[in-house]
Amino acid sequence: METRETKPVIFLFAFPLQGHLNPMFQLGNILFNRGFSITVIHTEFNSPNSSNFPHFTFVSIPDGLSESEATNPDVIDILHDLNSKCVAPFGDCLKKLMSQEPTSTCVIVDALWYFTHDLTEKFGIPRIVLRTVNLSAFVAFSKFHVLREKGYLSLQESQADSPVPELPNLRMKDLPWFQTEDPRTGDKLQRGVMKSLKSSSGIIFNAIEDLEPDQLDESLREFPVPLFCVGPFHRRVSASSSSLLTQDMTCLSWLDKQAPKSVIYASLGSLALIDESEFLEIAWGLSNSNQPFLWVVRPGLIHGTEWIEFLPKGFIENLEGRGKIVKWAPQMEVLAHRATGGFLTHCGWNSTIESICEAIPMICKPSFGDQRVNARYISDVWKIGLHLENKTERGNIEKSVRTLMTSSEGEEMRKRIVPMKETAEKCIKLGGSSHRNLENLIAYILSF
Ligand code: UDX
Repeated sequence: METRETKPVIFLFAFPLQGHLNPMFQLGNILFNRGFSITVIHTEFNSPNSSNFPHFTFVSIPDGLSESEATNPDVIDILHDLNSKCVAPFGDCLKKLMSQEPTSTCVIVDALWYFTHDLTEKFGIPRIVLRTVNLSAFVAFSKFHVLREKGYLSLQESQADSPVPELPNLRMKDLPWFQTEDPRTGDKLQRGVMKSLKSSSGIIFNAIEDLEPDQLDESLREFPVPLFCVGPFHRRVSASSSSLLTQDMTCLSWLDKQAPKSVIYASLGSLALIDESEFLEIAWGLSNSNQPFLWVVRPGLIHGTEWIEFLPKGFIENLEGRGKIVKWAPQMEVLAHRATGGFLTHCGWNSTIESICEAIPMICKPSFGDQRVNARYISDVWKIGLHLENKTERGNIEKSVRTLMTSSEGEEMRKRIVPMKETAEKCIKLGGSSHRNLENLIAYILSF
């Protein structure tokens, strides 16, 4: 029998943001179930709860972030700070782990750890990169430098709806854009990530190649390394929480009391920020729609506020139980609940794939990065949702909720998403693309 000492070991270097921790831990569980021993290297900043993963070994490295750096609202700045401050601690940690683990195979790093290339090369350990976006966004990011050179990333408002010749499914306003004060920091990030991807031993995606076949061909042309689409990760393993915030489980008993497919679930993910006026427009849009709603208002979502203190007096009481607002939800359970019928989302890739897997059509309110690409695919390519097109205005939200939840147009979207859900289910079974890709990935890792 294999013991921990003889099992092949994989080191995971998780990036400390929610939308990156979730897929990395899901991938860890998938590989653990296939006989690997998993060691997670993580920062002190946003450190995961190791007690939810007793089968993994956890090693913490000092990230050196000061209090003000760790609370900087500009996530891109945090990202660069982490990439410069973790070089020595990660190097020391990896060197020590490799000397202790004679069966170590490779390190799987999140693509946002763009500094890791030189170190893994120096230590002679293969480095596979987990890219948490889908293939369409991956292709759009890979053309970032061309788009920047052509001036598409700084176009005027009047050109926002013009098509992008290099990316036929997208409009200019859908191009990946970073939520940062200084656009140069976004360029620096993109250059770092591209270099790190191109020099990797392979790239893993939480994506389904059957849903984006053209984008797979395009990715293979751009990247001369093995690509493995093995998603949807969360469908392969039972949920163990890598949530940084406490999930409010009262959502589920509230949903139990609602009619089937009646609830619109609203959440803008873990990073997006909105201002007070957008917040109020969403509040009134949801309320005026007359549909029951479950709304995640993450503490800090509204710039400069604690939580929902800006809601007008009596707003919640007037809903008479028709709306519920929480700080963080058990999202996968919410989407899987029989009462949930629609999702007003920021279109992060995790949220999008989780929604597709439950056949829940969406209303798209993207903020930055890949979310804009995903939103266009949801509304115009896959036609499984409506796009708010930057009009965060109560009338528009109310109308979109009604259309999605009660009209024949919404019904058509609901019908179109069902085959996508079926594809997601089939692809991880014997004969499916993700099943085959996982077998190839495992054989590849064992060949190191
Ligand atoms: C961002 C990007 O937009 C995303 O595309 C990228 O791949 C990762 O970084 P984020 O804003 O965190 O992601 O959104 P998303 O990718 O949707 O991930 C959020 C995760 O948090 C999901 O797995 C979701 O299930 C979970 N979640 C969200 C909760 O558990 N509870 C909530 O209330 C809201």
